[in-house]
Amino acid sequence: MASLLSAVPPGELDVATLAEMHRIRWWHRIPVGVDSDGRTVYTPGEVRHGPDGGDWPTTRFGLPTDLSGKTVLDIGAWDGFFSFEAERRGASRVLAVDVSQERGGNWGGTRGFNFAHRLLASRVEFQPISIYDLTPETLGQFDLVFCFGVLYHVKDPLRAIEAMASVTRHVALTETAAWENVRDQRQPLWAFRPGFDGDPTNYWYPTCAGMEAAARFAGLDASRLVHDSGSRFTLASARSEDSLTLAYGTDVPSAAPFRPRDPNAIGHRIARRLLGGRGVAKSD
Ligand SMILES: C[S@@+](CC[C@H](N)C(=O)[O-])C[C@H]1O[C@@H](n2cnc3c(N)ncnc32)[C@H](O)[C@@H]1O
Repeated sequence: MASLLSAVPPGELDVATLAEMHRIRWWHRIPVGVDSDGRTVYTPGEVRHGPDGGDWPTTRFGLPTDLSGKTVLDIGAWDGFFSFEAERRGASRVLAVDVSQERGGNWGGTRGFNFAHRLLASRVEFQPISIYDLTPETLGQFDLVFCFGVLYHVKDPLRAIEAMASVTRHVALTETAAWENVRDQRQPLWAFRPGFDGDPTNYWYPTCAGMEAAARFAGLDASRLVHDSGSRFTLASARSEDSLTLAYGTDVPSAAPFRPRDPNAIGHRIARRLLGGRGVAKSD
């Protein structure tokens, strides 16, 4: 894989540029240059995705290692980490879309994206478009579509997923917060939890099976679980098995589904401790 610095201009960042960077409110930590000692400078975001690990390593999101010649759409790109990462992995065209005009609130607007774009001398395109308004007539189709951390923010996720699928030629990667509080994760459910986690822009939380069912309904018939931590997961939803092979070769990602802890097991442990080691009957 290309080195992390391959897309970073070799020049050192001057004081004025560093000051400009620190005036922006960032979510992503994006490598944008080097300091006077030659060390990589990252934008001061809250979450680090680097291929070197970080809080949420890119492996959680299912990006193919090599995107040479592929076209990519990044929905809800925010500061643009995944768009720039797709470009770094060789994508021939990357379009980033977001609704985050400079509106404050939870999301930081496009200042971060524009700053990183300039420093990386990036060719990533940006359009201020909502996921609902994606159509093949206006945008064409993209080999891969990224939709990371967006679906719980839309009031009508099925309409959003249908629009996303309409511009997906091969694979849509959706990363989302999950509904983990069900015993059987194979149930295709979506929980409506407006304002969950203290965020008034949060609405819907699927199980993995719920997301897979919605993707299938929208015409993306072949899904693979890429990552599942219980509270979040990533699903690769493709037009067909051939589309998965086209995106990943023989290295199609596949994760084990999260297994919720048996609440009885926890109850039994506590009860055993309280009873001084004596066993209790299991109810289920
Ligand atoms: C939690 S952030 C995720 C940012 C980035 N994709 C990531 O995973 O780090 C949610 C993003 O979705 C965007 N968003 C919210 N509603 C949207 C919509 N209707 N269409 C497109 N993007 C939307 C927000 O502006 C914000 O940039």
